[in-house]
Amino acid sequence: SSPAIPSDGAWDATLSLLREGYHFIPNRCRRLGTDIFRTRLTLTDVICMQGPQAAELFYGQAPLTRQQSMPQTVLRLLQDKGSVQQLDGDQHRHRKGLFISILMAPGQVERLANIFREEWLARLASWEAQERVVLIDEVNLILTRAVCRWTGVPVRDDAEMTTELAGMVEHAGHFRPATVAALWRRRRTERWSRELVQQVRSGALPLEPEIPLHRVATFVDMDGKPLTVEEAAVELINILRPVVAVGRFIVFAALQLHEQPEQTADLKDDQQLEAFAEEVRRKSPFFPFVGARVKEEISWHGHLLPKGQWLLLDLYGTTHAPDLFPEPDRFRTDRAISWRDQDYEFIPQGAGQAAVTHRCPGETITVELLKQSVRLLMESMHYTVPPQDLSVEMNRVPALPDSGFVIEEIKARP
Ligand code: HEM
Repeated sequence: SSPAIPSDGAWDATLSLLREGYHFIPNRCRRLGTDIFRTRLTLTDVICMQGPQAAELFYGQAPLTRQQSMPQTVLRLLQDKGSVQQLDGDQHRHRKGLFISILMAPGQVERLANIFREEWLARLASWEAQERVVLIDEVNLILTRAVCRWTGVPVRDDAEMTTELAGMVEHAGHFRPATVAALWRRRRTERWSRELVQQVRSGALPLEPEIPLHRVATFVDMDGKPLTVEEAAVELINILRPVVAVGRFIVFAALQLHEQPEQTADLKDDQQLEAFAEEVRRKSPFFPFVGARVKEEISWHGHLLPKGQWLLLDLYGTTHAPDLFPEPDRFRTDRAISWRDQDYEFIPQGAGQAAVTHRCPGETITVELLKQSVRLLMESMHYTVPPQDLSVEMNRVPALPDSGFVIEEIKARP
């Protein structure tokens, strides 16, 4: 007989999840002395888990699906029906090849990082004339301009586009009026994204073949046919939106530089910058957990997981587990963690092999943009950080320093 999975005893824990946010699963694992427990969220039975074994279950060969594993609003803002994240098995692997081909093509990530640098320096000139700027708003704009140039997306109104792309991430973690507005804006984003795909296909928007928008528009799916216009539009958004989302990590990096300015002395070469960027990814609260459902009954470490069972894997708790990352709340650049390991412990953006699992294909981009930002903040500008509320509320998902990180007295360095 299988050992019982401990339960937190709650009739429904949805309010606790809203109250505790990133700490919801870690708190219960600690209290129950376990890395797997059962609870109810939105009146539905769910098994929550953390740690490398659970990560292997989520990113291994087990018959799991991402379909119906998240609330509908999250799904509509962050992913979509027919998108890579919703596919399973061979179909998923084939579609994932589109992202791998775009992101792993030689020079493409470097090209994005260089465009990003150019856009940052262009914007810096206008900061000098302002009393203060809110860093999250500025990096959102810079990233929007950069990712559009990089993917070949023409921009009409960059402020509007920034609101659309940044809003999908900002409003995915809760449901309130702003979420509805973000959903409505997403519909608009999908509309222009579909138009772009059609323009590339008709030849009205000529692009070099290695440009991401061209690759998406012409990608041949498993059935030997191009993606439908709707699918291609959604996958284009699956590149644009998360690149803009890197802005949150950039703000956490700026916060870290502010809190421990003495650290800048150690950031002399590419290797040290990368260790810094990786520790920012580990420590910053971003994606709290991912969901999945069991497609066929699984026997797993003595537990029977029935067909249809809803599961949550705690990414935040795993990257803050003291047995994996000693002194997890301290920022330490000597941990030797890297996306390159594609392992089951350092999993801020998913676990396992990106090419064949649902692991995020955007880690290279994330790390390179973070490194570039730290360089720009340290070497290309002077600024001061005035008194402000920099506290990070751990029940706000996705989290951010409260003020959005205000900087003043900005001067470009010669
Ligand atoms: C998947 C987080 C940046 C594109 C994922 C997953 C996580 C994640 C946790 C796994 C979802 C699952 O297992 O169901 C993040 C975070 C980012 C980021 C925190 C920081 C901003 C990016 C970037 C790109 C990207 C820069 C692309 C340019 C994707 C795609 C998937 C994905 C397409 C779906 C992969 C699949 O289902 O096979 N991301 N990501 N992400 N990410 Fe990211």
